[in-house]
Amino acid sequence: MELGLAGKTALVTGGSKGIGLETARALAREGVKVLICARRETALAEAARDIMATTQAKIETHSLDVTKVEQIEKIPRVIGEKLGRLDILVNNAGTGTYKPFLEVTDAELIDGMAINFFAQFRICQRIVPLMIAHRRNRPRSVFQKCSPTSWRRTTSASIA
Ligand SMILES: NC(=O)c1ccc[n+]([C@@H]2O[C@H](COP(=O)([O-])OP(=O)(O)OC[C@H]3O[C@@H](n4cnc5c(N)ncnc54)[C@H](OP(=O)(O)O)[C@@H]3O)[C@@H](O)[C@H]2O)c1
Repeated sequence: MELGLAGKTALVTGGSKGIGLETARALAREGVKVLICARRETALAEAARDIMATTQAKIETHSLDVTKVEQIEKIPRVIGEKLGRLDILVNNAGTGTYKPFLEVTDAELIDGMAINFFAQFRICQRIVPLMIAHRRNRPRSVFQKCSPTSWRRTTSASIA
């Protein structure tokens, strides 16, 4: 599929596995320069090799735990070093608590909010300014699983 994304840059969190890995592969196939992030470096390296084998595209990687604020703070610098600028953010890293509502513990609730809400909000806060800075004549998009606030004044948004 030709989506007109060739030459764009993208960050995919949780890009070493599952939906994130396949999103990164699809973007790479479109000619997007992709940076994938997840916690495990070995899984990131394997994912980068896998994508390269199927698309011939070189994939950038960076180890990141999205629940750690101090690691999120470094992301703008990492993007600058590895991508130069950012056009597309796929805020995919996350998890679910797959058990009945009445059995969810407080610790599971807190962990779920840390990765599925706070991390997404914090990453957007640090990265959207970069996207705005480069927005002249460039489409830019944020894809995420939830929309904690309105993005209409800052960037286009899609709910995945
Ligand atoms: N699969 C479905 O049917 C489905 C449906 C609806 C929504 N979703 C949501 O879509 C997202 C992706 O689902 P999936 O099934 O593709 O998940 P998955 O296969 O379990 O992959 C999760 C990815 O996120 C990374 N990750 C996990 N915790 C992280 C953390 N704290 N910091 C950074 N990266 C982290 C994992 O790598 P590391 O472990 O190395 O960090 C991995 O790359 C999840 O939020 C899920 O809830 C999934």
